[in-house]
Amino acid sequence: MHVVRFVGALAVSLAFIPVAGADGLVNPATEKKIDALIAQMTLEEKVGQLNQYSSAFDVTGPPPSAGYQKVMYDQIRQGLVGSMINVTGAEATRQMQRLAVEGSRLRIPLIFGLDVIHGYRTAFPIPLGEAASFDPGAIEQSARIAATEAAAAGVHWTFAPMVDIAWDARWGRIMEGAGEDPFLGAQVAAARVRGFQGRDLAALDTIAACAKHYAAYGFAQGGRDYNAVDMSEETLRNVVLPPFKAAAEAGAATFMNSFNEIAGIPSTGNAHLQRDILKGEWGFQGFVVSDWGSIGEMVPHGFVENLEQAAQRAIVAGSDMDMESRAYVLHLAALVKAGKVDAKLVDDAVRRVLRVKFALGLFDDPYRYSDAARETQVLADPSHAVAARDVARKSIVLLKNEGGLLPLDKSAKTIAVIGPLAADKDSPLGNWRAHAESNSAVSLLEGVKAAVSSGTSVVYAEGVRLSTGARNFGARLTLDTTDRSGIPAAVEAARAADAVVVAVGEDAFQSGEGRSQADIGLKGLQEELLRAVIAANKRVVVVLMSGRPLVLGWTGENAPAILEAWFGGSQAGHAVADVLFGEYNPSGKLPVGFPRHVGQLPMTYAHKSTGRPGPEPGVTWSSYNDMPNDPLYPFGYGLSYTTFSYSEPKVSALEIGRDGSLRVSATVTNTGKRAGTEVVQLYVRDLVGSLTRPVKELKGFQKVALAPGESREVAFTLAAKDLAFYTASGRWEAEPGAFKVFVGGNSRDVREAGFSLR
Ligand code: BGC
Repeated sequence: MHVVRFVGALAVSLAFIPVAGADGLVNPATEKKIDALIAQMTLEEKVGQLNQYSSAFDVTGPPPSAGYQKVMYDQIRQGLVGSMINVTGAEATRQMQRLAVEGSRLRIPLIFGLDVIHGYRTAFPIPLGEAASFDPGAIEQSARIAATEAAAAGVHWTFAPMVDIAWDARWGRIMEGAGEDPFLGAQVAAARVRGFQGRDLAALDTIAACAKHYAAYGFAQGGRDYNAVDMSEETLRNVVLPPFKAAAEAGAATFMNSFNEIAGIPSTGNAHLQRDILKGEWGFQGFVVSDWGSIGEMVPHGFVENLEQAAQRAIVAGSDMDMESRAYVLHLAALVKAGKVDAKLVDDAVRRVLRVKFALGLFDDPYRYSDAARETQVLADPSHAVAARDVARKSIVLLKNEGGLLPLDKSAKTIAVIGPLAADKDSPLGNWRAHAESNSAVSLLEGVKAAVSSGTSVVYAEGVRLSTGARNFGARLTLDTTDRSGIPAAVEAARAADAVVVAVGEDAFQSGEGRSQADIGLKGLQEELLRAVIAANKRVVVVLMSGRPLVLGWTGENAPAILEAWFGGSQAGHAVADVLFGEYNPSGKLPVGFPRHVGQLPMTYAHKSTGRPGPEPGVTWSSYNDMPNDPLYPFGYGLSYTTFSYSEPKVSALEIGRDGSLRVSATVTNTGKRAGTEVVQLYVRDLVGSLTRPVKELKGFQKVALAPGESREVAFTLAAKDLAFYTASGRWEAEPGAFKVFVGGNSRDVREAGFSLR
C-alpha cells in the first residue's frame, strides 16, 4: 500500500492542465494582465500578495498584538499584504482597501476573507444539519444567501465549504461538514461551491469559495482536534478526497490546507497533496491558503527547525498564501535571493492569487463590494428568514416516534416546554455563526408559542442549566453538574401537561474548532432531568440540539419520541415547531450514524468486511463482546409521520461492459395516512477488488414526495464509471466482477439485487 510522500522541489510541476470549473479563473486576456503586473512587481511586493493578516475580530489563534496593528497598516501601504481576514462591513472594508489602493505603489487591491460557514447575518442550520436534508438544491440556496449577505458587507471570500469527512463524533468540527460519507459529501461540497460562487465571481452577490481542510483533518486520531492522522493512500483517495475533487470541479477558487500531519508530513508541507494531486492531477488554477498559523506550526510539529525553513517547505509544497504565520513576509524574499526557493514558485503563487482578485472584479473597482446602502438593504431582506426556516425544517431528523406521539395537537390544553435549550436564543445559531447577532434565534419556546392555538397554555421550565460562566468561541465551557433546584418545577410542569417537549443536547460552543470531547453523551444534569420528567409524564418528546451525533444511552431507550434538530439557525424555533405540530412532515436523514457508545468510534456504515465478518456464535469474529457493532441509528436513517415500503429492486441488465450503465429501480409506496417525503438511497457493494471494498457505498439518492397510498417507481442510472475507485494499480477505475446493489430508506434497511461488470 502506498503512503503519502513528500516530493522535493525538483519534482515540482507547474503544468497547466485545466479541468472543468477551473477554466473560469483562467482566460488569456486576464493572464496577459497578470503577466504585465508581475513584471512590474518587486520580489517583496510579490511576497506581499502571499501574506495574509487578521484584524482582531473572532481570531482563531493568538491575536495580533496592539503594536502590530500599526506595522500591519504600514505594510499594507507598502504592498506587503495581499489579504485580510476578519475585516467586515462596507465601511471598514472600504477604509482598509483604501490603504492598499491609494497607499501602495501598484495599487493592488486586498482580498477580504471571512469564515462564512452557515450564513453571514441570517444563520442557517449548521452544515452537518443541512446535510441531513439530503437536498443539494436547498443547501445551494443557503450558501447563495450567505454569499449575498457577506458580499454586501464587503467580504470577497469565504473559508467554506469545509468538506472534511468524519467518522468520529468526538471531533468537534464534525458540525462543519457533511458527515461520514464521501458521496453525499461530494454532492454537498459542489452545491455549496455553486451557492457561494454563483455563475460569475464578479457578480456583486457572489464570493469566492474555499474547500477545506486539505486534507484528512477529520481523521484526527482519537477525534482530538489538530491531532496526527495516519492514513493509507487508498483511504485518502477513496474516502477523503472525493468531496475536495468535487469542489475543485465545481470551480472552487481556493483551497485551504490543514493543521494535521498525514503519515509524518504536515499538510502545509505536503507537496504530494498540493502539487501532485490538487494542482497537477486536478489542474486546480486557484490558490491554496494555509490554515491559521499552519506554516509556523510545522516547527512544533517537529518537521522543520524554524520559521525560515517552514516558509521554504510550505512554498515548495504548494501553499500559496500564508495565513497569520508571517513566515513568507519575513523570510521568503531572502530565501529566493539565497537560491533556496525558485523564484518561479513565488511567481506561480502570486499569479494564482491575482487570478482570483481579477475574477472578483477587484481590479475594475476595488470598492465594489463595499457599499453601505446595499449592505443595509441586503441584510434586512425578509426572504432570507423564510429560506432559513425552510432549510431548517428539511434538516430535522425524526429518530423515534413510539405510539405515534408526534405530531402533537396544536389545540392541546397545556404543553410543557422544558430544558436548558428550550428558551435559549443563542445556541440555535451554532458555532461559527459569522455576524449573526448573539441571542437572535427564534427559540424553541417562542416557536411553540407561535404555533399553538390561542386556547393552549404553554408552560415553561428550564429544569437544569448546561453551563456556567463564559461561553464563546474561545472559552472552555464549565458544565453545570450541581444545580438541581429547577428540577421540581419542571416535574410539576410536566405532570399537568397534555404533552411535554424537552430540549436537551449541547451548548453551541460544545462543538466546533478545538471542541473535541471524549464523552459525547447528554452532559451535566440533563439525563437526571429527563428521568424525573419522564417519570411524571410519559408523553415526552425530546428535541435534541447538537453539533454532532450524541450517545443517547438511557434517553434513547426511554424517551418515546426524539427529534434531532441540530443547531437550526436564526429560525430554528419555528422550524422545530413546524415539525412538532405536523405543519411539516419530517424528511431529514442522518448524514452520520449515532453510535451506541463512544467506544465504537470511529465508525462508518461503509466499513470493510474483514476476514471474520460474522456474526458467529463464538467470540472469534470481528465484534465488540459487550454490545452490537452497529450504531443505534445508522447513516441515512430518519423516520416520517408516514411509513414507506420498498419493492425488491430491479436491474435492467445482469451484466454491463466498461462503458455501459444499468438502471436500478424500486417501487416505493407511502403506506401511511399522511403525505410524506422519502429519501430513497442507492448503495453498491463491489464484492472483490484489487483493494478490499466497503460492505456498502452510497451511490445515489432521490427525494420523492408521495401522497398517502401512492406508489412510485424510483430509478437510478448506475454507470460503470460510478463503480470506479482508487485501485491497487494506483488508477481511478472500475474493476470487473460481481456487484450487489441495495435500495432502501437508510444504510441498514435495504433490499438487494446484483449484476456484474465485464
Ligand atoms: C480554522 C479555519 C478557519 C481559520 C480562519 C482556523 O483556525 O481551522 O477553518 O478558516 O481559522 O478563521
